[in-house]
Amino acid sequence: MKKIVLLLCLAIVSCKSNEKSIAPTGLLTDKAMVVSAREEASEIGVEIMKKGGNTFDAMVATELALAVCYPQAGNIGGGGFMVYRKVNGETGALDYREKAPLAATKDMFLDKDGNVIEGKSTATAFASSVPGTLAGLFAVHKKHGSLPITEILAPVIALAKKGVIVTKFQAKSLADYRATFIQINGPNSLFSKEYKVGDTIKYPALAQTLQRVSDNGRDEFYKGETAQKLINFLKNKGGNMTVKDLNVYEAKWRDPITFKYKSLKITSMSPPSSGGICLNQIMKMIEPFDLAQMGHNSVKAIQVITEAERRAYADRNFYLGDPDFVKLPIKELLDSVYLENRMSDFSFDKASKSSEIGEGKIPRYESKQTTHYSIVDSEGNAVSATTTLNDNYGSKIYCDELGFFLNNQMDDFSAKPGVPNLYGLTGTEANSIAPEKRMLSSMTPTIVEKDKKLFMVVGTPGGSTIITSVMQTILNVYEYNMSMQEAVNAARFHHQWLPDEVTFEPNSFDKELLRKVKEKGYKVNETNKEIVGQVDAILVLPNGKLEAGADKREDNKAVGF
Ligand code: DON
Repeated sequence: MKKIVLLLCLAIVSCKSNEKSIAPTGLLTDKAMVVSAREEASEIGVEIMKKGGNTFDAMVATELALAVCYPQAGNIGGGGFMVYRKVNGETGALDYREKAPLAATKDMFLDKDGNVIEGKSTATAFASSVPGTLAGLFAVHKKHGSLPITEILAPVIALAKKGVIVTKFQAKSLADYRATFIQINGPNSLFSKEYKVGDTIKYPALAQTLQRVSDNGRDEFYKGETAQKLINFLKNKGGNMTVKDLNVYEAKWRDPITFKYKSLKITSMSPPSSGGICLNQIMKMIEPFDLAQMGHNSVKAIQVITEAERRAYADRNFYLGDPDFVKLPIKELLDSVYLENRMSDFSFDKASKSSEIGEGKIPRYESKQTTHYSIVDSEGNAVSATTTLNDNYGSKIYCDELGFFLNNQMDDFSAKPGVPNLYGLTGTEANSIAPEKRMLSSMTPTIVEKDKKLFMVVGTPGGSTIITSVMQTILNVYEYNMSMQEAVNAARFHHQWLPDEVTFEPNSFDKELLRKVKEKGYKVNETNKEIVGQVDAILVLPNGKLEAGADKREDNKAVGF
C-alpha cells in the first residue's frame, strides 16, 4: 500500500515539472461546464446547454437562477460585468453596472459640516443605484443568444416556485443578518423569518416578477408594471430613484482590456471596473521577476506581488472612475516604460510605505457580497461574469411584492475624497457622485488564452480583493503548476495601497513565514475575512477536457457534461 502511495506521489511530482500534465483535482468534463456559487444555478445553466443553448443562453439562465438561489449576491436588483471569448477568438465585454439616479448629487452622503453620514450610502434607500442586471442579460441575449428567452427563463421560474433548500452556509448567513432584515423590512418580510439547514424557501413573488419579464421582455423591468412597483416601493422607503431613471438605463458594450503576460493573453474588464487595468498593471510589474523560482507564497513572491499591488491600487485611487464622465489615462497607466519605472524603487530589503508611494506621475495627463460564474459551452465559447448587490444582500432592503433585494452600490463611489468605503477603498474626483454616472468597481471577470486557444475562465467576489485573487489564481496554474482546483483552494493574500498592510487568509499561512514578512517591514493582518472571495474558474486541459475550480470555501459547485 505504502509503495502505491509513494509511486502516486512521484507521478504527481514529476507531472508538476511539466505544466502540460498537471493532475486535475476538480470536476472533469468533456464538453461544457458551469461553475457558480450554487449547485442549482450551475445545473440550470448546464440544462440550457444540453437543450442546445450556447454559453450566452447559459449565462442568462445561470445569473437569473443565482437571483433565486443565492439572494445574498445573485440579483435582479444589482448589476455586473461580463467578458466573453467566442471559439473564433472574438472577445468582448459588457458593462451592466448600476448607475447613480438622476437626482444624485456629489455631496448626498455628507452632513452640513461635510462629514460622511454613516450608513447612508450602505443601508438606506439612497444606497441603491439603478439596477443593470436585466438590461445586461437582455443585451447579451439580443447579441449572442440562440434559444428563446421564455425557454431560458422557464427552469428559473420553476426553481423559484419549487423553492431552494437552505445549506449550512446559507443558514448561517441568514441568521447573521436576521436582526437587520427585521429592522429594515419588518417582521413579516420573507427573510425576517427564521430558517434552518434543510428548510425549503419558496420565492413566489420573484417567480411572478420573472414570469412577467419572460412574457413582456426587458421593458417589463425598466418601463412596465415592475418598474412602477419598484419605484413606489423605494419612494415609500424615502429614496430618490424615479421611473425616468429606469427608463433611461442602458447596458453598454465596451472594449475589454487585453494584455500579454509571458505566453498568456489575458482579457479582462475595462472601466468603469478597475479590474482589468489593475490586473494588467500588477501582472506587468511582476512579469520581470522569476516567481516560479521564488516559490508559491514565499516571502520574496509575497514582496514582489504586494509592492506591485501597492502601486496599482494607488493609481486606481487617483485616476479611475466612469469613462463616460472622466478622461481616464488608460494608455499612460498601461505603458510599459511607466510600469517599469513604477517598480524601480522596489527593494527586497525593506517594505515601501504607502504614504510615500502615491499615484504615478503621468506625462501630459489633463485632467460584500458579489458572485462570479464561469461558463464554457460545447463549441468552446466562454463567458466570465461577475454580478453584485455590493454588500451581502445589498442595502438589505427587500421588496416583498417583487421578490428581490436592492443594491447598495452607491457606496462604491467616493462619498468624500480620502474617506474609505465598505472595502477600505478611497477615491478622488474621478470617482465622485454625479447623476447617471457609474461607480468604480473592482470586479474582474477574466478570460485567459494560451497559444491562441482558450485556457482559463476565472473571476471571484471579494470587493477590493477581487483583482488580486484573480491574479493569484492565474499565477497558481501558470507559474506554480497547480491544477485548477488546487489553484482555487490555495491560500491567498492581498494588498491595496491603503490601508498600508498585507492581509493574509486567516489561519492559512505559516507563522514563520509571516514573521519573516513582518521583519521586512510589512504590517500583517490575519483577521480580515474579506480576503476570501470565492473563485469559480474553468481550465481547458491540453486534451481539451475541462477542469473545474469551484471554491470549497462555500457552496460553489461545478456541473458539466
Ligand atoms: O464592484 C465592486 O467592486 C464591489 N461592489 C464588489 C463587492 C463585492 O465583491 C462583495 N463581495 N464579497
